[in-house]
Amino acid sequence: MKILVMAGTRPEAIKLAPVIHELRKHTNITTVVCNTGQHREMIKQAFDDFNIIPDLHLDIMTEKQTLSSLSARLFEKTEETFKKESPDWILVQGDTTTVMVSAMCAFYRDIRIGHIEAGLRSFNKWAPFPEEINREIVSKIADLHFAPTKIAYANLIREGIEPDAVFVTGNTVIDALYWIQDKIEGQEAQLLDPRILKAKQEGKRIVLVTGHRRENFGHSFIEICQAIQEIANLYTDVVFVYPVHLNPQVQQPVMEILGDHPRIILLSPLSYMPFMALLKSAYMVLTDSGGIQEEAPALGKPVLVMRDVTERPEGVKAGVSKLVGPHKEAIVKHAVRLLDDEKAYMSMAHAENPYGDGHASARIIDALLNL
Ligand code: UD1
Ligand code: UDP
Repeated sequence: MKILVMAGTRPEAIKLAPVIHELRKHTNITTVVCNTGQHREMIKQAFDDFNIIPDLHLDIMTEKQTLSSLSARLFEKTEETFKKESPDWILVQGDTTTVMVSAMCAFYRDIRIGHIEAGLRSFNKWAPFPEEINREIVSKIADLHFAPTKIAYANLIREGIEPDAVFVTGNTVIDALYWIQDKIEGQEAQLLDPRILKAKQEGKRIVLVTGHRRENFGHSFIEICQAIQEIANLYTDVVFVYPVHLNPQVQQPVMEILGDHPRIILLSPLSYMPFMALLKSAYMVLTDSGGIQEEAPALGKPVLVMRDVTERPEGVKAGVSKLVGPHKEAIVKHAVRLLDDEKAYMSMAHAENPYGDGHASARIIDALLNL
């Protein structure tokens, strides 16, 4: 069996890395890893920390790419790749443009599609944008669906997908997290920025921030930045650390509003090891990221989700994350509560693993081999 693994962005590399490790244990499978290069720097960082060197590079990223131009370049290069490689299966993960286009190209060429992290739904086509529609399209044409949770499974069944084609596996991000935990054990001092180490030594609390969602660009991003600035002004014992996504639509407001504050540290995107060390050292997290909503609960870090809807309700149900929206007042109110009220903090700061047990990749490969 020849399997072509398609990945284009940071979260796909992180969540596919344990699957690639698992695939490479099987000598009866020919595994080819294709980096579409939807992300240039950020996907390389992610693969590097897992010691994965992709076999193919499509190198399609351009500065400030639009969704249509990105898709057009992807369609062309992916079609060429499928023609040359003729895989039996492709594996895609999640809901990016790389995932949607790869699945469409495979469908056009009668290549089987395995979709990892299938069945997530916010039920709002504008949020996350365009990911909600990307994953719906992939669910329509995939042959095997690897749902991370029972909720995701139920979403797929409700949409009429054959139960035999759906496997509940857990999310491979938890496999990745466990794998990297072993590597960072005892390395925190080398992995953390000296300013963060100093703040920790002075007894300051670290609030980790990330944000990059398209539906938050513009007004909501400004509100998010203003909220962070306001909270930073209120507390001298809190330091915000924000590794800023390379998208210019994120860089511009973040640098402009938060670039010059004594208790806000802006960093370039971090590779997975230092990022996990940072998450471990954080008091809490403010984010609109999908993956971080899954990782933070596993480490017992309360998460305020700066989105109006989430396709990851498990963390909210478990009480470790809270949906506060990309709204200044709500972000400030909930962050202040977690910083001031120990009981409120402790009620959220418990480790829960609603997203997996670290064996998702093995289940996925088993399902493929048992076909
Ligand atoms: C993409 C995904 C999103 C995912 C996110 C993870 C789509 C539509 N969006 O969003 O689902 O959550 O990745 O981070 O697939 N850039 C660089 N270097 C990089 C990466 C990005 O310079 O390594 C800049 C470029 O100017 C690029 C822009 O960011 O044009 C946007 O990248 P793109 O992949 O289109 O969108 P993301 O916002 O990163
Ligand atoms: N991440 C990372 N370095 C960073 C920020 C995030 O390695 O500086 C990891 C994070 O741990 C998670 C993934 O990137 O596994 C999430 O990616 P992102 O937020 O870009 O995308 P999303 O999950 O929202 O699609």
